[in-house]
Amino acid sequence: MKKIELKTQITVFESLEELSNAAKNLMGKAIEAKQNAYAPYSNFKVGAAFLLEDGTIVTGNNQENAAYPSGMCAERVAIWKVSSEYPNHKILKLAISASSATQITKEPVAPCGACRQTLSEYELKQKDKIEIYFMGEVGKVIKTDSLLDLLPIAFDKSFL
Ligand code: THU
Repeated sequence: MKKIELKTQITVFESLEELSNAAKNLMGKAIEAKQNAYAPYSNFKVGAAFLLEDGTIVTGNNQENAAYPSGMCAERVAIWKVSSEYPNHKILKLAISASSATQITKEPVAPCGACRQTLSEYELKQKDKIEIYFMGEVGKVIKTDSLLDLLPIAFDKSFL
């Protein structure tokens, strides 16, 4: 028996102002996209924006449903737009921002487990890392250099 320590790395920025222009611009698009979230049940709006290699930005937001499990997270709405409309474009970055209607969300909101699994498929497919930036409504921004920093020991096609 042996115990193995796994290390992942995050970078914490004190505010949007510390980001590169490209990342700041992308987060701006995620914040804009958040406005069109359809979240009448949770009152929690999430916006996601992907930057593709050719400069194209693809956005999405959470879409809820009266049959709760039929709703979808912003990240998956956006990644499936990317994969269906730009199947051969490499993804460079993802930015995520979330806001609650009942309080100011100050802590960075990380993508849920199902979104991490979904996103990991596309990082493997393109054989290149995707930088991920996430924040709440205001305050700190967290960056990971790869999806696998958020999802170590992922399930992937090698098991099939
Ligand atoms: N949500 C996202 O859009 N992304 C996540 O990664 C976490 C949760 C949405 C789903 C639901 O509409 C609302 O936030 C509350 O869970």
